[in-house]
Amino acid sequence: MKKIIALGGSNSKKSINKELAQYTANKIANSETIVADLNEFELPLYSTDLENEKGIPDNAIKLNALIEDADGIVISMAEHNGSYTAAFKNAIDWLSRINQKVWKDKPMFLMATSPGARGGAAVLNTANMAFPFFGGNIIADFSLPSFYDNFSKEGLNNVDLNKTLNQKIQTFQEAI
Ligand SMILES: Cc1cc2nc3c(=O)[nH]c(=O)nc-3n(C[C@H](O)[C@H](O)[C@H](O)COP(=O)(O)O)c2cc1C
Repeated sequence: MKKIIALGGSNSKKSINKELAQYTANKIANSETIVADLNEFELPLYSTDLENEKGIPDNAIKLNALIEDADGIVISMAEHNGSYTAAFKNAIDWLSRINQKVWKDKPMFLMATSPGARGGAAVLNTANMAFPFFGGNIIADFSLPSFYDNFSKEGLNNVDLNKTLNQKIQTFQEAI
């Protein structure tokens, strides 16, 4: 049984990205999904001064251990003003102080969604370019536009997008 982390790059309690990451991870065969909610890993705003004074917070150490223990990572990122949410970037900054290889070369399915038509394309592009420099082994990526039009309780209801997602899940499955 493979361990897959489903992480929403948002600290919204009702995060649509957490929902998409969990939905996608649940579709991966022979695996268990471990949902990593950023709200359960609350972290102070990173500063070098704080790190020098107090060291690395326990929640960063716990999140790092969770990634270490995983066979694969499914991340869906929220986009705030064209980039990562502050909560997600802050988590990355703390994690990078433990190990520069934040994502530890674990197979990664990188996603983004938003209620808008671009589906977080900007943050997805940023992460696609940046993550390989800190241990990101990106196997597949997927942007889901217009979340509330294309996603319901039953899951992805757009036939073409569903087909694309399933193909990418298959590719990811073969890599873990
Ligand atoms: C401060 C702020 C900035 C935002 N900027 C963007 C943006 O640049 N692009 C976008 O598609 N949506 C943007 N949104 C809308 C988010 O996509 C939307 O709130 C979404 O639900 C966030 O994902 P989450 O539910 O996983 O947190 C923004 C929302 C907030 C609160």
